[in-house]
Amino acid sequence: MASITFNNVSVSYDRGKTKTLKDLSLEVKDGEFCVFLGPSGCGKSTAMHCIAGLLKPDSGEVYIGDQLVTAMEKKVFVQPQQRNIAMVFQEYALYPNMTVRKNMSFGLQTLKVDKAEIEKRVNYMAKMLSIEHLMERKPAELSGGQRQRVALGRALVRDPNVFLLDEPLGNLDAKLREQVRYELKKIQSELGVTTVYVTHDQTEAMTMADHIILMRDGMIMQEGTPSDLYDCPNNVFVASFLGTPQINLFDCRVVQKDGRIFLESPEITTVVEDKDAAALKDYTGKEVTLGIRPSDLSIAENESDAAIKAAIDSMELLGDAYLVYVRTGNKVVIFKNTDLNTKLNSHIFLKPDLSKLHLFEKEKGDRIN
Ligand SMILES: Nc1ncnc2c1ncn2[C@@H]1O[C@H](COP(=O)(O)OP(=O)(O)OP(=O)(O)O)[C@@H](O)[C@H]1O
Ligand SMILES: [Mg+2]
Repeated sequence: MASITFNNVSVSYDRGKTKTLKDLSLEVKDGEFCVFLGPSGCGKSTAMHCIAGLLKPDSGEVYIGDQLVTAMEKKVFVQPQQRNIAMVFQEYALYPNMTVRKNMSFGLQTLKVDKAEIEKRVNYMAKMLSIEHLMERKPAELSGGQRQRVALGRALVRDPNVFLLDEPLGNLDAKLREQVRYELKKIQSELGVTTVYVTHDQTEAMTMADHIILMRDGMIMQEGTPSDLYDCPNNVFVASFLGTPQINLFDCRVVQKDGRIFLESPEITTVVEDKDAAALKDYTGKEVTLGIRPSDLSIAENESDAAIKAAIDSMELLGDAYLVYVRTGNKVVIFKNTDLNTKLNSHIFLKPDLSKLHLFEKEKGDRIN
């Protein structure tokens, strides 16, 4: 097992013209389940390839545990096969002519691992992945989810220092994805193997990660636990990237009235709590961006308590609640409502949970409160 450290790692694919990774520094702790999250093209796979040694960065250092594995300036580069890393990609390929058992043991045989040891490891992993009954089948005789589990098992039997997964569940349907996600997380924590998991799917990140590294344009926007990022996003990008449905955003003016601070826009007028008022001290008369998560809006009894007055545009049943889309001015605001008697087109009053307002600078989008 090992930690992973990047010190100022830069990568460009076009001889330095555009930097795909920009001085990336990060640390994945030993035994941690870390997710590299971010929109398509932000550099997640590129960063992962630097760990695996599939790519030589222009500059910077990569450590696996205490071992310096990449430092081009110092002419250090440890070959991928010497890094004891296992990788699984979305387009994993099993050997079609080999049984599941053979697929899982083949890599260990080429490493000349003792036969009894191979059998022990393969059987253990088969049990962990609930594929014991499939061991004598060929890949063509398996479902997508079963094949995926074999691919994971084949990688894990090698007992790697680091386990790298690049969008490994992309080919599975939603239900299977949920199941494999759960199993993978369980196995990872049982084995305690340091894992980096690449995805652009925020739900996968939120449900699986001990540590999320959220990237954009080759840089880290924020890192921390899923709740660090969800409850206290550093900027508008992070706030919008995490959470479904997305956070509601309003461009509001900061107004001082009767010694209190209000946020006002054509769609919403709300007072703020003292701590937020203090954070907004220098913004009086200026505009800021207000973010409210759909689960932090609820129906107000009285018009006088209302921050938003709106008509219900559409509703989606979630089972135990509705996602309600309301129209106010030119904007559609989303909130989660557990009152199943709410009627379409009716006018309602909404109030936010004042302790959960997210305030951002309008220009750069950086968090204020
Ligand atoms: N071999 C390459 N040659 C040139 N440009 C590349 C190469 N590989 C990646 N890129 C570019 O580098 C950027 C980052 O690519 P990368 O594959 O790391 O993104 P990603 O975050 O994994 O995206 P996705 O979620 O779509 O897989 C992209 O703009 C991509 O076009
Ligand atoms: Mg990728």
